[in-house]
Amino acid sequence: MNTFSFVIHPLELKRDAARYKPILGLFPEPVIEQIALRMNPKTIAKITGIESPTGAQCEGYFVGCPLGTRQLLMLPPEIVYKKLVDAGKYSADLGAKIMGLGAFTSVAGDAGVTVAQRLEGIIGVTSGNSYTVYTAIEGLLLGAQKMEIEVKTASVAIVGATGSIGAVCAKILAPQVGEIMLLGRDEAKLEKLRAEVESRDDCRAQIRSSTDIRASLRGADLILAVSSAGKELIFPEDLKVGTVICDVARPRDVSKSVVEKRDDVLVIEGGVIEVPGTDVQFNFEFGFPRSTAFACMSETMMMALDGTNQNYTLGRDLSVEQVQKIGVIAQKHGFKLAGFRAFEIAVTDEAIEKTRDNARRKRGLVAA
Ligand SMILES: NC(=O)c1ccc[n+]([C@@H]2O[C@H](COP(=O)([O-])OP(=O)(O)OC[C@H]3O[C@@H](n4cnc5c(N)ncnc54)[C@H](OP(=O)(O)O)[C@@H]3O)[C@@H](O)[C@H]2O)c1
Repeated sequence: MNTFSFVIHPLELKRDAARYKPILGLFPEPVIEQIALRMNPKTIAKITGIESPTGAQCEGYFVGCPLGTRQLLMLPPEIVYKKLVDAGKYSADLGAKIMGLGAFTSVAGDAGVTVAQRLEGIIGVTSGNSYTVYTAIEGLLLGAQKMEIEVKTASVAIVGATGSIGAVCAKILAPQVGEIMLLGRDEAKLEKLRAEVESRDDCRAQIRSSTDIRASLRGADLILAVSSAGKELIFPEDLKVGTVICDVARPRDVSKSVVEKRDDVLVIEGGVIEVPGTDVQFNFEFGFPRSTAFACMSETMMMALDGTNQNYTLGRDLSVEQVQKIGVIAQKHGFKLAGFRAFEIAVTDEAIEKTRDNARRKRGLVAA
């Protein structure tokens, strides 16, 4: 049986440290950060019961990297790389052949490239971002279908388009939709991406770009939110009737007021994945329903089921081919979208039907 590890870390250091050892809650955050710097990786939980329809099985470990979000983003990359390389060696000692980088461990420094180089011959590394992209697009298009939006003529806005996830999403969507609005904050970067997407042989969408995000959103049928703004960029008053938004960003790009004030707009969050196996046990609570996981975790699991110790998604330059290939691997091993969630709550089929009916009514297609 193949083994994988998935690196996790405290998202909120003080809160999570106090959960681990209540006395730590009494210390100020900088002191906890100093303690964290001296800690080694450790096993948080064993993951069992994953089984592909091909018959392949795998098991894995959540391995804790002690650094908090702020440390991962602000410390000199060398310090972070060392911690992640330690986590890789520790994972290999547990028998893992492939290590996934969870949450902000995949964002730090050069997004896995250096860590993978330093772990060459010891363990493979992936950020999991290819499957995150694959399922975000899959979710957006499924949402469009449920909300009766014709994809091939739809206008799609990508918020944070010049980023790693945004750029590859634009390239994948360009053959499938009517218009793509690339939205961001840097005009030169947006223009460069616009030219790049437009020059692709398979591009059939009209490609536009803008730094005026709020005004541009008013024309969008579908919105993919993938910025790293760290603050809300999408508000209820800027949305067309019946829009579908897939918010992959963490922290979210979509204001909670959208779901509170717009009963005709469907908000979903990318990547809640059903993991194959009759008795999948994560033995660690991360807020998802039973037997489901984040897309990035799922990418690591499917690499293990495939028996590979090769690196997969690394760095910020994601390729269309890599994303398409992970979709094929996911299908082979029985990973699939497990429905929709938004703001920690399941978005049921009934809720979507209601949203669709509200949109129909607001468009004047049915009497109130
Ligand atoms: N849900 C998941 O499982 C999952 C997995 C991976 C990533 N993510 C999230 O997905 C998002 C994108 O990740 P990434 O790796 O593609 O990040 P990235 O490469 O850093 O790209 C982020 C993009 O957001 C833009 N941006 C930043 N601040 C902005 C602002 N104030 N207004 C408008 N645009 C702004 C950046 O523009 P500039 O080029 O001008 O900086 C860039 O285009 C992040 O929020 C990340 O946390 C989620």
